[in-house]
Amino acid sequence: MTEVRPIVVELLGQLGSSREARQYLEQFSRVNESRFAVVKVGGGVLAEDLDHLVGALAFLHRLGLYPIVMHGAGPQLDRALAEAGIETLKRDGLRVTSEEVMAIARPVIYRENARLVDALERHGVRARGLLHGVFECDFADREKLGLVGEVADVHLEPVRGAVAAGALPVVACLGESRSGQVMNINADIATRELVWAIKPYKIIFLTPTGGLLDESGRIISAISLTNDYEGLMAQSWVHSGMQLKLAQIREMLDPLPPSASVSITSAEKLTRELFTHTGAGTLVRKGEQIEWYEQVPDDRRAELEALLEAAFDRKLRPDWLDGRPVRGLLMAESGRAAALILEGADGVPYLDKIVVTPEARGEGLGAALWQVLRARAPAMYWRARINNPIAGWYFQQAEASHRRGQWVVYTIGIEDFAQMERLVKDAAARDSGWREEAE
Ligand code: ARG
Repeated sequence: MTEVRPIVVELLGQLGSSREARQYLEQFSRVNESRFAVVKVGGGVLAEDLDHLVGALAFLHRLGLYPIVMHGAGPQLDRALAEAGIETLKRDGLRVTSEEVMAIARPVIYRENARLVDALERHGVRARGLLHGVFECDFADREKLGLVGEVADVHLEPVRGAVAAGALPVVACLGESRSGQVMNINADIATRELVWAIKPYKIIFLTPTGGLLDESGRIISAISLTNDYEGLMAQSWVHSGMQLKLAQIREMLDPLPPSASVSITSAEKLTRELFTHTGAGTLVRKGEQIEWYEQVPDDRRAELEALLEAAFDRKLRPDWLDGRPVRGLLMAESGRAAALILEGADGVPYLDKIVVTPEARGEGLGAALWQVLRARAPAMYWRARINNPIAGWYFQQAEASHRRGQWVVYTIGIEDFAQMERLVKDAAARDSGWREEAE
C-alpha cells in the first residue's frame, strides 16, 4: 500500500489540487476502517454502469479504503417477475413478497450480487458477497406483505470480518427470521439500518442521474438540511420522489454525528465527489446554524481573526476592530464561515469581510451564508481587489461594479447614481485592518 499511495495521491491531484485530495484521504483513513462509507448501489447502476462502478470501488480499495457496498436489484426483479408472468404488487412502496415472488427474487438477488463480486475480483479486488447473516428480521406484516422483513437486528461480524480479511463486503438486501426464513428487505430500508448500525463517515448513493436535480435539471451541489430543508420541501418542482428521498436522508442522518454526510453521485463521478472540495453530485449534510450577533462577541473574536488570517494568509493589526462601527456579524456555528457588516455611508450596510473555508464551500456553507446575508441586507456594498480569486463570483452577485484603482467596488440594491458615487468613494478609502498593507 505504501508505494501506491503517493502515486495515487498525485493522480487524485489531477482532479483538483493534490492538497485537497490528500486532506480527504487523511480524513477518510482516520476513521475505523469499516466505518469509512456505506455505498448504496441501485439495481439500475449494476445493470448499466458496472464498469465505472468496479473501477471506482477498485480505486478506493487500492487506497486502503473499504466502502461497504449495499445493493438492490429492483429492475432485474421486475423483469424476472414479468417474464414469469407474475404481477408486481407494491403496498406502501414495498414489494409484496409471496412465496412465489420469493422463489424468483432470491436467485435474481444472488445473481446480481455474484455479478458485482466477480467483476471486482476480475479487477484484482478482493470482495465478499454477503447474502445472509447480516439482517435479522421480523415479518413486517405477514398478511399484507408476505415475506417482507422488518429489520430487528443488524449483525456486523460478517461485514467486519470481510474488511479485516482485506475484502470489500457486498451486502444483498435479504434477511432472515430467527428461524432462518429468508426475507426480502427494501434496499433503502436495508441501507438505513446498515448505516445506523455502522455509523459511517460517508453515505453514498450511486444513481444514474448522479445527484438531485433542480428546477432546470441541473445537479444541486449541496444541501444543508438545517438551512434548506423546509424551503426545498415547499418548492413546487420538488416532486414526491425527491421529497421522499430528502425525508429519508434527513431521518438517516439524524442519529449520526454532524461530521457525517450523504453524497448522491454517479459511479463515474464518485472519485471526484470524494476527493475534491467542490465534488460532483449532491452533498447533503445536517448543516449548521448561521448565528447573527449585533457585536463581535468576545468569545468569538479570536475565532473570527484566525479564520480571516488563515483564509487571506495575512495578519490583522491587533487594533483592527477598534473604531469599526459594527452593524452585525454572521458566523457559522463551526466558525468556518463569517461575514462582518459595518455601518456604511448614507446608512447603507458595508460588507467589510466575508470568508468561507474552501472545505465549507464544498458543503454549501458559503451559499447558505450569502443567503442569510442577503436577507439581512437587501442593499449593501463591498470591495475586493481586482485579482481576488472570487472576483468572478462577486461580479455575478452584484448588481453593479465599479473599478477604483486596485479595487472593484460592488453594490446591490442601490439605484440612485449620486449615492452610488458616494458609496464607491467611501469603499475605496476604507481601512482594511491588515498589518503592513502594501497599498
Ligand atoms: N469531498 C468532500 C466529501 O465527499 C466534499 C464533496 C462536496 N460535494 C458536493 N457535491 N458539493 O465529503
